[in-house]
Amino acid sequence: MEESNYQDIIKSIYNRIKEEGNPGETAKYISELAKVDGNKFGVGLKLLNGQQFGEGDYQEKFSIQSISKVLILALAYRTLGEEIWKRVDVEPSGNPFNSLYQLEADKGIPRNPFINAGALVVCDVLIDLSDNPKKYFLDFLKEVSGIKDIDFSYDIAKSELETAFRNTALTNFIKALGNIKNSPDEVLDLYCHICSIEMTCEEVCETFSFLANQGANSSNNKVIISPSQTKRINAIMQTCGFYDESGEFTFRVGLPGKSGVGGGIVAVMPKQYVVTVWSPKLNPKGNSYRGMKFLEDFTTATENSIF
Ligand code: DON
Repeated sequence: MEESNYQDIIKSIYNRIKEEGNPGETAKYISELAKVDGNKFGVGLKLLNGQQFGEGDYQEKFSIQSISKVLILALAYRTLGEEIWKRVDVEPSGNPFNSLYQLEADKGIPRNPFINAGALVVCDVLIDLSDNPKKYFLDFLKEVSGIKDIDFSYDIAKSELETAFRNTALTNFIKALGNIKNSPDEVLDLYCHICSIEMTCEEVCETFSFLANQGANSSNNKVIISPSQTKRINAIMQTCGFYDESGEFTFRVGLPGKSGVGGGIVAVMPKQYVVTVWSPKLNPKGNSYRGMKFLEDFTTATENSIF
């Protein structure tokens, strides 16, 4: 693949998808997300050699939501090591992201860290690891993203907390089953804050470059996690990054990735690149319609995926 061709490929897929219409709905259950213009559409690509490409609204910030779940896992995993897998499993759930359904049978051990139940447990772990877990996470985010002034979006976090009925139920249920140690309110508050982070497609690519680069940031080669930990996190993104649509994403796109209800999707081609798409309208499984379509067409056009 000639590097100079990437911009042409991105542009032609982007324009074609834009003409095809814009199905789906923006997330409505978080009032701040309901206000976002559903016609936004951006694509960013960062190669490990430092070259960057972008199209559309790729320099506009959006709420990364569940994409943050990968970052809290990386932080908890690098600190706690393999112990983390005693608290959360690594199996696809085959269920919606906010499901309570399997928890009782699984005795409070969430199927994986990328469903809400799993990320709530990872938040509980972060609270145990630090006296100031919000600062602990933001410091990590600054380290991996290189963005010195990154902060939570307090409006988005507040609006999510106001209607977090399912996440409240999940947190209390896991607490009752013994797999949350701290106060459910504190866990939920941390979770909604980590989901509130806003970044551009360009910034998400930079932040996730360590997962394409064997665990080291691709700009400064600073080691974030080990190559083996990187392999494992990418594997969980591959099998669990899209909830009950993880098989479909693997089938169509063929890259490890993670979605968020803000309409973002980040996907990683190990040792080559990170690509991020943002389009707020979601399909019924909570994943960006245009995001999935763009990535399917991108790996098809470049004839390059992990398979
Ligand atoms: O917990 C929630 O409902 C949101 N903060 C995050 C959900 C999410 O991003 C699911 N993604 N596709």
